[in-house]
Amino acid sequence: MSAPTLERPAPDEAALQEQFDATIAADHRIEPRDWMPEGYRKTLIRQVAQHAHSEIIGMQPEGDWLLAAPSLRRKSVLLAKVQDEAGHGLYLYSAAETLGADRADLTDKLIEQKQKYSSIFNYPTLSYADVGVIGWLVDGAAICNQVPLCRSSYGPYARAMIRICKEESFHQRQGYELLMTMMRGTDEQRAMVQDAVDRWWWPTLMMFGPPDEHSPNTAQSMAWGIKRHTNDELRQKFVDMSVPQAEVLGVTFPDPELEFDPGTGHYRFGKLDWEEFKRVVGGQGPMNAIRLARRRAARDDNAWVTEAATAYAEKHS
Ligand SMILES: [Fe+2]
Ligand SMILES: [Fe+2]
Repeated sequence: MSAPTLERPAPDEAALQEQFDATIAADHRIEPRDWMPEGYRKTLIRQVAQHAHSEIIGMQPEGDWLLAAPSLRRKSVLLAKVQDEAGHGLYLYSAAETLGADRADLTDKLIEQKQKYSSIFNYPTLSYADVGVIGWLVDGAAICNQVPLCRSSYGPYARAMIRICKEESFHQRQGYELLMTMMRGTDEQRAMVQDAVDRWWWPTLMMFGPPDEHSPNTAQSMAWGIKRHTNDELRQKFVDMSVPQAEVLGVTFPDPELEFDPGTGHYRFGKLDWEEFKRVVGGQGPMNAIRLARRRAARDDNAWVTEAATAYAEKHS
């Protein structure tokens, strides 16, 4: 007699796969209770976790300026923005949990550098103008990336994105408004804005990820409806959107090759330094060690809070 098996018989799996494919083809949403291929689940966990890590690491560069904000108004705006980023992390870790991931395990993987986060947050914020430029360019790039994700095929991720994008749009506006104010100020303030733009422009373009020919997961992610546009498409969209905004603001981007191409209707731009991208995303950026040391301290120093809250929840369950 053969041993009983818990494995699903093959025909069922084929039927489930068929149902999954039909859901994707009809542009309907996959929900946590639905069957999904392991590759789909793994890809989503990786992407959602990477996104969640970026949100909470992203609190640090601007958080550094909370105690040095130039006025009470600026401080409350910045505080609200940094708090929003914590909330984005929370929604996204929760979305990852619906896929069967464990939140504490994801936090450990971030700290142990087994999972990545956006390369952009490994650059330092050297003046208050950086707060404005991060809002304008970095949150602006995040919006370009994330608006299409509101139509992502995985329901909890898509729904989290709707709220996140609304908040990101506030982030971008507060940044632009701050820069507008500085540009109406003194020569020194205008120079601070231009200097911040010069330092953040190229790293912001790198946020969209490697060029399409070096982005091996893109095709499968697009077939699954997780991603809706390629990295290069989104990068181009962002450049086209940002140039007129820079003109209104009165700043220039540090790219002598940046030029409108009437043939394509798009701006041509110079080559990105992909070696720098690899270095920074691989842990060798100017601020990587500090960013991760703070996360590690937050986990270790606050472990007693987690323990106490867990014990309390168990007692009352
Ligand atoms: Fe965010
Ligand atoms: Fe943001």
